[in-house]
Amino acid sequence: MAEKFIVTPCGALRGSIEIGGAKNAVLPVLAAALLTEQPCTLQNVPSLSDVESMRVLIESLGAKTRAAGEKGSITIDASDVTSLEASYELVGKLRASFLVMGPLLARFGQAKVPLPGGCAIGSRPVDLHLKGFAALGADIDHSHGFVTATANTLKGAKIYLDFPSVGATENIMMAAVLAEGQTVLENCAIEPEIVDLANFLNSIGGKIRGAGTDTIKIEGVPRLHSQNIKHSIIPDRIEAGTFMVAAAITRGDVTLTNVLADHVKPVTAKLKEVNVSVEESDDGIRVFCDTDTKAADLKTLPYPGFPTDMQAQFMSLLATAGGTSVITETVFENRFMQVGELKRMGAEIKIESRSAIIEGVKNLTGTQVAASDLRAGAALVLAALRAEGITEITGIHHIDRGYDRLDLQLNQLGADIKRIIE
Ligand code: EPZ
Repeated sequence: MAEKFIVTPCGALRGSIEIGGAKNAVLPVLAAALLTEQPCTLQNVPSLSDVESMRVLIESLGAKTRAAGEKGSITIDASDVTSLEASYELVGKLRASFLVMGPLLARFGQAKVPLPGGCAIGSRPVDLHLKGFAALGADIDHSHGFVTATANTLKGAKIYLDFPSVGATENIMMAAVLAEGQTVLENCAIEPEIVDLANFLNSIGGKIRGAGTDTIKIEGVPRLHSQNIKHSIIPDRIEAGTFMVAAAITRGDVTLTNVLADHVKPVTAKLKEVNVSVEESDDGIRVFCDTDTKAADLKTLPYPGFPTDMQAQFMSLLATAGGTSVITETVFENRFMQVGELKRMGAEIKIESRSAIIEGVKNLTGTQVAASDLRAGAALVLAALRAEGITEITGIHHIDRGYDRLDLQLNQLGADIKRIIE
């Protein structure tokens, strides 16, 4: 049943919000749980539809999962993997499903996964993942829309990534953890989610050094063991950034708890640049703003640059800033899907190749808009909090993929968002 948000502008958001576990950390860790034949428990797992999709996928391969007592804990037992093929239907729901390829190839010497299609933000190729598997000695076969990787044994190799791809870094790291010998992964991604995955793999017997730098060294081990390990997922830096912008756009005063300040530094720096106050303390991060915000230029880059996953949300803030801003999206080729909808709300934005030129306007106006993807949807919610008049947002299933009831969380801070069946 499709649902939509009815957003009534709310004035300043105030209060405190606890940040949940990171979607982009728990998805690769759930895939990595396939590497060990003993149970392991994950904590601080967010309740998101993407996480549910990954759980269903690993269960379709034979893994067993169950709630493990306290909220947000899940135990995975992959002792009995019965299939090495991920179904087209399940992978179609979640591109990150491609991350099961590395673990299956490492542990069983074979994996068959549908080539994930493109999505709203770009073609999303996986060539770097496959080049890494081939460098480790796997034979890669493409047929009928599936990719099959096979290898009797994987041998450690020196691999240089053409682009610091997050997914390729994760997939190759998971394949290399059981390979014979040492793998050196250079020009790899350094996102915090990479470090979380490496910490999980090391907690089940992996030997990985350098995660968080552009060179990761992996000493292959014969097998992994996870008897009773518990791994807590890092907080979601993109959820945190989204609430930081929510506080700024409504001229509010919001404190975020359970957040790692280091992980949101690029967003903090950009908010300060546009006249928003950000204070870090042991209690968390306080974001407040009682003046007009300024324009700023912004370029998305791999970590620690400004995150592409925060680009749309920040555009909503710049749309009502005084002056002209330029946003350049360097990571994905089509990540301005929110522009059309923001323009329907009165924003003045012009796209020129990979840049969006934003002329700040005094006010946006509420109307009917549609979410096209996860972060574009979040950007529309943020714009609606500030717009004059009521905004109706359809396609909110995109938002539920990466936020655990964004409507309820914002309402806790004073927003007025109704979720109704279309
Ligand atoms: C991860 O996607 C995140 N998803 C994305 O978050 C995030 O936007 C992205 O990293 C960048 O930070 C998860 O972690 C589940 P990439 P991923 O491989 O791994 C090109 C969200 O909103 N590329 O770093 O797919 C690719 O086309 C989502 O939470 C290749 O060319 O990102 C893109 O232009 C959206 N060949 C660039 O690299 C490859 O083999 C970055 O992609 C792989 C990637």
